[in-house]
Amino acid sequence: MNYGNLTLHIHGGIATITLDRPKVLNALSWDLVTELEKAAAQLREDKQVRALVISGNGGNFAAGADIGPMAERMPEEAKRYTFNSAFTAIEELPIPSIAAVSGYALGGGLELALACDFRVCSEDAKLGMPEIRLGIFPGAGGTQRLPKLIGPTRAKMMIYLGDTVNAATALEWGLCDIVVPGDPVPEAMALAGKLAERAPIALRRAKETVNRGFYGDLRSGIAAEEDAWASLFSTEDQKEGMRAFLEKRKPLFRGQ
Ligand code: CAA
Repeated sequence: MNYGNLTLHIHGGIATITLDRPKVLNALSWDLVTELEKAAAQLREDKQVRALVISGNGGNFAAGADIGPMAERMPEEAKRYTFNSAFTAIEELPIPSIAAVSGYALGGGLELALACDFRVCSEDAKLGMPEIRLGIFPGAGGTQRLPKLIGPTRAKMMIYLGDTVNAATALEWGLCDIVVPGDPVPEAMALAGKLAERAPIALRRAKETVNRGFYGDLRSGIAAEEDAWASLFSTEDQKEGMRAFLEKRKPLFRGQ
């Protein structure tokens, strides 16, 4: 099924979602994220589906939120266009989910991968939270899920510096679970196939229980993130950071 900015296929009990804006490295537009939430709702209703693989078309997973429409936003709009509802819908699917990551998984792209149960990466994968370079910070669950997954110090290193890590480092840190030489989709599909053979009710309850225990009060953490993140859209630094990206120049942050 073609939603427009992504495709959803279901075959043999395994669903695949392919993000499909390759010209902009699958940057996550509001339309794409809305479609993702609709696809999640469709999968939640489909009792035949046992596992999900999410990947990106054109050699990249996703280079983050689409910066163009965000650049001139004010805090209320930043809050209105949050990705949290869609990413939570993916995280809370009653089936296991795998992000198959090749190329860039940055910002909102990495945050989407973090909402999946597993990440299978190609050797060329580059994962990062570059938002600080735009005058903001990760605002789609990244400040909450990343430290829990890789520890607060490594997460702060990624969030404060905005540098990317390669697949080997990501594997060592537990950010990737499996690294393969080429396309990660076949390996992700093989894992999905195995997961699809397991008892689905027991697996669903295991997922709920692990997530509840691991994340604790994730929702209030995400709500605090959303407030702080949206408030940055009242700063000059956010406007400068995003305008600089769009104008293909280095930003000059004045702390205003
Ligand atoms: N938003 C909008 N457009 C994007 C984009 C994004 N996040 N990422 C890439 N693109 C576009 C580029 O503007 C470019 O378009 P044009 O051909 O029209 O110029 C096209 O995709 C190809 O990208 P590049 O020419 O820049 O490719 P490159 O190989 O030189 O660089 C890159 C790749 C390092 C990923 C670079 O594109 C980049 O830095 N992208 C932005 C990454 C980023 O900052 N992501 C975080 C976004 S904010 C966010 O995600 C907030 C949140 O928490 C939800």
